Amino acid sequence: EAIEKGGYEHFMIKEIFEQPRSIKDCMRGRLDSQTGRLILGGLREYVNKLVNADRILIVACGTSWHAGLVAEYFFEEFCRIPVEVEYASEFRYRNPVIREGDVVIAISQSGETADTLAAIELAKSKGAIIFGVCNVVGSSIARATHAGAYTHAGPEIGVASTKAFTAQLTVLNMIALLVAQKKGTITEQKLHEMLVEMETIPEKVERALQLNDQIQDIAATFKDAHNFIYLGRGYNFPVALEGALKLKEISYIHAEGYPAAEMKHGPIALIDEEMPVVFIATRDSSYEKVVSNIQEVKARKGRVISVVTEGDQLIPKMSEFVIEVPAVHEALMPMVSVIPLQLLSYHIAVMRGCNVDQPRNLAKSVTVE
Ligand code: G6P
Repeated sequence: EAIEKGGYEHFMIKEIFEQPRSIKDCMRGRLDSQTGRLILGGLREYVNKLVNADRILIVACGTSWHAGLVAEYFFEEFCRIPVEVEYASEFRYRNPVIREGDVVIAISQSGETADTLAAIELAKSKGAIIFGVCNVVGSSIARATHAGAYTHAGPEIGVASTKAFTAQLTVLNMIALLVAQKKGTITEQKLHEMLVEMETIPEKVERALQLNDQIQDIAATFKDAHNFIYLGRGYNFPVALEGALKLKEISYIHAEGYPAAEMKHGPIALIDEEMPVVFIATRDSSYEKVVSNIQEVKARKGRVISVVTEGDQLIPKMSEFVIEVPAVHEALMPMVSVIPLQLLSYHIAVMRGCNVDQPRNLAKSVTVE
C-alpha cells in the first residue's frame, strides 16, 4: 500500500496532486486547439442526438452530481440547450417526464452506483438515448449507456472524490464544446479561445497546488470549527457545494454550500464571529455581486476566507484569509477553484485525526439503495 501511495501519506492527497496529470490524460488525443478539433470516439453516431436535443437530463449522485451542475451552466451557455440536473435517486422514483428529443447524460466515477444505474434503465425504458461519463472502464453504467466518454483519471481510491471530479468536468466541457461546434452556437474564434484555455488548465491546477502550505496554515486556524459555510455564484456555485461536501465527508465538520445570493434567505442567520465562510469569489460576471455578499458576512463578523483570482485588489481587504488562484475563463474556473477546497478539507481532516481515505459510514461506490 505504501508503494501505491507513491510517497504520499494518503490516497486522497496523492489523487489531489495527480490532477494536472489526470486532466491532461483526459484531454490527450481528444482536443487540439491548433486545428480546432475535438475527437470523442465514444460518442459515435449518437453525437447528433445531443446536437438536436430539445433538452438534456443529467443524472448522477454525490460529487458527480456537482459536476453535472457545472455542466448545466456550460451546456446552456455554449449549446443553448436547456439542461436539468437530477439526483438519480429522486429521478428514478418520481415517474419523470421523458419526451422524444430528451437526451440523458449519466455521470459516475465508479460506474456502479445503484441509483444512477436504475435511473438509466428507467430513462432507457422510456426510449431515451443515454450518454455515460464514467471513470471505470467496462463498469455497469458504461455498459448500460448507448455512448459516452471515459474520464481516464486512473483508479480513485480515496472515498472523497477529487481527480474524478475535475476529469468529469474536462469531459463534459469537451462534449459541450463539440456539440456547440456542430450546432453552430459557438463561433470559430470563441471555440479556439476556449480550447486554448482548456489546454492551460493542467498548468493552472499545478499552480493552485502550490498553495498547499498556505492552505495547511489556514486549516490549522479552523480545524476546531463546528460549522462552515461555502458560498459562490454562477459557475462557482456548484464548487461551493463540492467544497462543503468534501469537508463534511472527511472531517465530520458540518458544512453547507449555498448560492451566495441565497444566503439572505436563511444561512445569514447563522453568521457570527465563530462562523468560517468560504467565498469562491474569482473574477467573473458575478464578481461585483459576490463582493457585496462578502460585505454582508463581514458586517455580521463572520470569518471570511476567499478564493480569488491572482492580483485581486479588493477582496483581500475584506477577508481574513485569501487564496489566489490563476485566472481562467469563468466557465473553466471550477477545475481550478475546487483545488484549494480539496486541500483545505484534506488538511483539516488530517489535523482532526480522521481517516481521510475511508471516512466513517461512507463507501467509495454505493451499489445498494
Ligand atoms: C459515493 C462516493 C462519492 C461519489 C458518489 C457517487 O457517495 O463516496 O465520492 O461522488 O458515491 O459515485 P459515482 O461513482 O457514481 O460517481
